Amino acid sequence: MSAHLVVVGSINMDLVVRAPRLPRLGETILGSDFRTFPGGKGANQAVAAARLGGKVRMVGRVGGDGFGDALLDTLRQNQVEITYVYRDPQASTGVALITVEESGDNAIVVAPGANGRLSPQDIHQAEAAFQAAQAVVLQLECPLPTVEEAIKVARRYAVPVALNPAPAQALPDELLRQVDVLIPNQSELQILSGEVEIEEAIQALQKRGVKTLIVTLGEQGCLVVQGAERHTLAAHRVKAVDTTAAGDAFVGAFAVAWAEGKSLLEAARWGNAAGALAVTRAGAQPSLPTRQEVLDLL
Ligand code: RIB
Repeated sequence: MSAHLVVVGSINMDLVVRAPRLPRLGETILGSDFRTFPGGKGANQAVAAARLGGKVRMVGRVGGDGFGDALLDTLRQNQVEITYVYRDPQASTGVALITVEESGDNAIVVAPGANGRLSPQDIHQAEAAFQAAQAVVLQLECPLPTVEEAIKVARRYAVPVALNPAPAQALPDELLRQVDVLIPNQSELQILSGEVEIEEAIQALQKRGVKTLIVTLGEQGCLVVQGAERHTLAAHRVKAVDTTAAGDAFVGAFAVAWAEGKSLLEAARWGNAAGALAVTRAGAQPSLPTRQEVLDLL
């Protein structure tokens, strides 16, 4: 049976240039092709989960512009339910300026636009979706009070919450305590905890009430942490073309498997596989794998 998920988060149009390397401060370099891709951490995670068989309802905001039209179409085409994606005529749709270098690594600047206006009131309007969900998935590209409200509503209906704290910012302990699984990458883990070493960072967050952590480690796979237990899952060896949305693929796949009732480790294996597949293809949403692709890799 399909798992029902609510994804609350950003919806962006990604404006992407490939270049031999990232420019230094004050420098201009020549890149190669320019392309646009549907993106945004929230929408990427929603599409990732839907391609893997989840019944996904997205809560978000786009502007009244052409990018908004195109992004809503893409969500629909991917069977993401968009009743609670609001059109905001007073804002532009979120945009991400992305440079991808030869190695596949990237640098991203996001202009949040309508994402920055997703409000706690928008969460209330979507409350019916939370009631029917087996998991709620969040990131930090929308305002923190909105994220806090979504966690509160999820808790009201006893729905487990996964938070991908990206882009990283300081978070109150009260919020961390209410998250069931926190999924940062290594730099987000450092920013959240104020510690550089992974183990020290984990313990600092545990002291602040974090229950379960999955630290994504790029080429090193991921580390699953529950209490005193640590499990490292090695990464699949792939040729990196573009790492954009690899973390989102991980989160979306993890969330589907977790909401289907798979164990934490098994769900992390799904995340690992989806993340690996996503780096082999260009763009955010076009790179997200299907369920069959993930099963084949697993
Ligand atoms: O995680 C990748 C995403 O980050 C991109 O799609 C971009 O829109 C930014 O939100």
